[in-house]
Amino acid sequence: MVRQEVDGGVAVLTLANPPVNALGAALRAALDDALTAAIADESVRAIVVAAEGKVFIGGADIGEFGKPQHPPSLPDVLDRLDASPKPVVAAIGGAALGGGLELAMACHGRVAAPSAKIGLPEIKLGIIPGAGGTQRLPRLIGPDVAFAMMLTGEPVSAEKAASLGIVDAVVLGDLVAEARTRALELADAGTLPRARDRSDALTPEARERFEAQAAEAVKRDPEATNVHALARAVRAGLEQDFDAAVAVERAEFRALVEDPRSKALRYAFFAEREAARVPGLPKDTPRRTIKTAAVIGAGTMGGGIAMCFANAGIPVTVIETEEGALARGLDRVKGLYAGSAKRGSITEAHRDERIGRISSAIGLEHAKEADIIVEAAFEDMGVKREIFSKLDSIAKPGAILATNTSYLDVNAIAAMTGRPQDVLGLHFFSPANVMRLVEVVRAEKTAPDVLATALDLGKRLNKLPVTVGVCFGFVGNRMLERRSRAGERLLLEGALPHEVDAAVTGFGFRMGPFAMADLAGLDIGWRSRKDFGGRAPVADSLAEQGRFGQKTGRGFYLYPDGARTGTRDPEVEALIARVAAEHGVARRSFTADEIVARLMYPMVNEGARILEERIAARPGDIDTIWINGYNWPAWRGGPMHWADTVGLRTIAEALSRFAAETGDDSQEPAPLLKRLAAEGGSFAGLKYA
Ligand code: 3HC
Repeated sequence: MVRQEVDGGVAVLTLANPPVNALGAALRAALDDALTAAIADESVRAIVVAAEGKVFIGGADIGEFGKPQHPPSLPDVLDRLDASPKPVVAAIGGAALGGGLELAMACHGRVAAPSAKIGLPEIKLGIIPGAGGTQRLPRLIGPDVAFAMMLTGEPVSAEKAASLGIVDAVVLGDLVAEARTRALELADAGTLPRARDRSDALTPEARERFEAQAAEAVKRDPEATNVHALARAVRAGLEQDFDAAVAVERAEFRALVEDPRSKALRYAFFAEREAARVPGLPKDTPRRTIKTAAVIGAGTMGGGIAMCFANAGIPVTVIETEEGALARGLDRVKGLYAGSAKRGSITEAHRDERIGRISSAIGLEHAKEADIIVEAAFEDMGVKREIFSKLDSIAKPGAILATNTSYLDVNAIAAMTGRPQDVLGLHFFSPANVMRLVEVVRAEKTAPDVLATALDLGKRLNKLPVTVGVCFGFVGNRMLERRSRAGERLLLEGALPHEVDAAVTGFGFRMGPFAMADLAGLDIGWRSRKDFGGRAPVADSLAEQGRFGQKTGRGFYLYPDGARTGTRDPEVEALIARVAAEHGVARRSFTADEIVARLMYPMVNEGARILEERIAARPGDIDTIWINGYNWPAWRGGPMHWADTVGLRTIAEALSRFAAETGDDSQEPAPLLKRLAAEGGSFAGLKYA
């Protein structure tokens, strides 16, 4: 796991633990042994730590957290590196994250390749750095800058890391050779620069700025236990000596590993990666080549999808039926790119390059050269049928035909063609150029190579593709529909829109369902219920009055003078009472916990049905969809993980009660949920092929 080569007085220790050189027990032990051997070897004057692969070190092994630890611990190995009498230089050839950067900071010198990414992302896993990171980084770059970096968890480029003082230099040529040279220079100089001995960056001014940032961060997210802990650990470094402060960090780290928030975030990390593996789709499934794309429809969705291709370097043709719609769509896309360039998130050259990859045309025949065609036209089965039957005669053989439908039957769409094996759904989320999630809808006849190609393409587009089966609304919208239905029912039973929204934001969503409906436009749900059926007596009554939400200044809430946040409207509350009376529903008040249960348990129940029907392969896929497409709070791990933490028996019993109270049999626990509840089981405990 660690290759040792001694040459010219330098021992180069190369870590080789694919795929990301995570610092698991075996690698720690191998590194410790190699280090001990290098220190003992009289021919060695200096040491270089390098790594194989495109990642230097992806951090501690997250999978080991919460399990019995095998020695040596990472802090112990880093202590030995730090205390080495011979200089150690880290050659950072790729990402150095978490424990990876902590290891590099325990060395006496650091050089990085230009492509390296450097950061301490622990906060995103609900923890804080636990191997000296909260102490060494502030000593290198100041407690204020270090705190800000650890608070976002976002890595910086090698160049930025050098300008901040995290690494000594960015090396364009042979990284290991440069690391060797520097290690020998340090050996010649006879003094070893140690981050732990530095105090020049710990100025009173920097401390003041850190305290202000910490106060604000804690205020912004008072429930985030790890933000509090991070502030305490950094503060300890300003008040106590290095070893005492490291002990504070370690105790905070250990406590956080057991925190349910961190457990949920770690679960979500692995669930997201697991989602890339589709049961029954071998890794070596052949792929089709995707060099060009066409997008049908220049609306918000079509434009956003075209941007995804252009951003990934894939030339794309946007196709419309008439000039006006095409021009409007392209203007919108150009406006979005101009905005990004203005904000500095892309350069002007990138803006022009990306816009240059988007061409446009009138008429489906212009899709004939494309390797993939994504239909993003109107959400209407008639329209889709017509497009796909025409595409069948236009598209070149082997082209992938994808529909961006949010609800419709992809099998029926595929049946419009003589090549259903080439058809699948790619359900992007709005705004498509921003949202990571894509539901990849595998239809009955979708060929394995088409699915595998679509999943690869999703990654190329910088998306998070999750495979789902065909059903109305797939995974995300099918479950969302349950929540919407329960929300309407709650209104009739006496909860007010602002109470429901407050319960949902209190749960951790950024927005409640009624504020969200007002933002999206009540006309959308109203029209879709007219097309597809379904009842929402309150929302429909509002829409019938022309109350479409924010865009008309009135919806569930009032938005006077273009306000973005709604205020309560007594008229709406009276309307709800009237509709409830018409439906003969008795009204009462609800606590926030009751509201959460009423809204979320039916979603969990639908998730169980989705698993039974094999629409989703695993609970983790459902959770990945909800966290990344619907803003489910990641620290609650997604609806299925959350359900396990609540207890499936509690949920099943509550659902039976809701069914009895509301007379809605569809609230009865699904067979899978019922079985797991009776067995004392959990979704996590399900075994899948
Ligand atoms: N521990 C265990 N496994 C890890 C890991 C880690 N730190 N980082 C990545 N992996 C695994 C993934 O689960 C995946 O496994 P799989 O192939 O079996 O599904 C595999 O490595 C490849 O990961 P990605 O698909 O994410 O690969 P990418 O090339 O897209 O990204 C990466 C590489 C940028 C390193 C990304 O994996 C990443 O961000 N990893 C996590 C980084 C992180 O959070 N580090 C901090 C860990 S906590 C820590 O260090 C505590 C310390 O302070 C004590």
